[in-house]
Amino acid sequence: AAAPQPRITVIGTGYLGATHAACMAELGFEVLGLDVDPLKIVALSRGELPFHEPGLPELLVKHVSSGRLRFTNSYREAADFGDVHFIGVGTPQRPGESAADLAYVDAAVAELVRNLTRDALIVGKSTVPVGTARRLRRLIDDELEGRPEPAAPRVALAWNPEFLREGRAVQDTLAPDRLVVGTDDGDAESRALLRRVYAAPLATGTPLIETDFETAELVKVAANAFLATKISFINAFSEITEVIGGDITTLADALGHDARIGRKFLNAGVGFGGGCLPKDIRALQARADELGAGAAMRFLTQMDEINLRRRDRVIHLATQSVGLLQGARIAVLGAAFKPESDDVRDSPALDIAARLYNSGADVTVYDPQANRNAAARFPRLEYARSLEEAVSGADLVVLLTEWEEFRRLRPRDLEPLVRERRFIDGRNVLPAEDWKASGWEFSALGRRA
Ligand code: UGA
Repeated sequence: AAAPQPRITVIGTGYLGATHAACMAELGFEVLGLDVDPLKIVALSRGELPFHEPGLPELLVKHVSSGRLRFTNSYREAADFGDVHFIGVGTPQRPGESAADLAYVDAAVAELVRNLTRDALIVGKSTVPVGTARRLRRLIDDELEGRPEPAAPRVALAWNPEFLREGRAVQDTLAPDRLVVGTDDGDAESRALLRRVYAAPLATGTPLIETDFETAELVKVAANAFLATKISFINAFSEITEVIGGDITTLADALGHDARIGRKFLNAGVGFGGGCLPKDIRALQARADELGAGAAMRFLTQMDEINLRRRDRVIHLATQSVGLLQGARIAVLGAAFKPESDDVRDSPALDIAARLYNSGADVTVYDPQANRNAAARFPRLEYARSLEEAVSGADLVVLLTEWEEFRRLRPRDLEPLVRERRFIDGRNVLPAEDWKASGWEFSALGRRA
């Protein structure tokens, strides 16, 4: 007879954890999600998500009602229930520093182990500085060492980084590009168990990379560093075309035809934001410094700087366009760090909106999903319920997040509403020539103003 399916817990039910828990249930496992926040538990148990993610609410509702997916705030319950415990708690940037804050990861592992009375595999998913798994291994051993008889449980550890993108989290989890599993030397048992957990994606050909702790941890941060570098690379060339002329989109298209380079993540614009790329490259630089290898990762500091300079460029173009920001009516289209997301963490759009406001402009923001999160972060900006409301009477319209609704915009949609025909396309998604032909003063990033 087939061995019974391992039971799964997911510790930390934020973005990553909630998605992982629902997807594991979708793959057929009994899943218990744990979070220390009781309000989150209540909401998730009702199938409600505190963030926007296409397809995820449906999965939650489906599996909460089938009983395959439950939530708790009790570590005791999780420890008794699970065979495999995924750790998906946050690793935010430490306030005022570049390094990652590992307090939540450490606390989750310690609390879980303290409550374990049966054998278990702990699987780290959070993005962590290299060396964390090996340190946690010692933490687990220390925790178990003091245990009185009867015999302490056997607790294994594996590192299985997550590569999901916001807005595509469900498909990225159910059908990932690759699976990476890091274990301690020769831990064949943990590898075999994780192959069972991921049997469905593996059966459809998902590549599996089985390696050591350090490589697994590094794959994650290296991937995000590479993506950030690609974006900043093209944005660095924007700075050149802005002074000498040339078209950044055509440049990116031409580069992208070289299969070794590829067109993806070469979209020039206001750059990267969100809860991952910016903090991950800063944490990687900080970790490399600690390891005495800071020189090797110094280019990431430059990638970060290139990225932030894009925001200055928009402020500069806006100032040039309206003459004086003080008192100008500016409509900002977009607040989320990218489309299909309501996340405003480190969002270039919201940062630029706030800076325009702080320079005296009268700023109205409209985002199809992120108004609420943006208002919580910057309550003093005006938030419009529709695009039309946002652009009414505007002296300048600035597009900063490329939602589909904005990509479809045509000059005649705005002409009856705005006060002045001035537009800045911060994401290079609109056809500049059409707008100029309609009498608009139209500028974009990566083009001579
Ligand atoms: C990123 C990675 O893409 C995921 O693989 C990773 O798992 C995740 O971080 C994480 O570490 O959890 P995400 O933050 O959802 O995912 O966002 P991306 O789709 O990577 O976009 C990041 C930022 O880059 C956005 O602000 C986007 O507007 C910007 N971007 C992206 C560009 O400016 N140009 C591009 O060509 C592509």
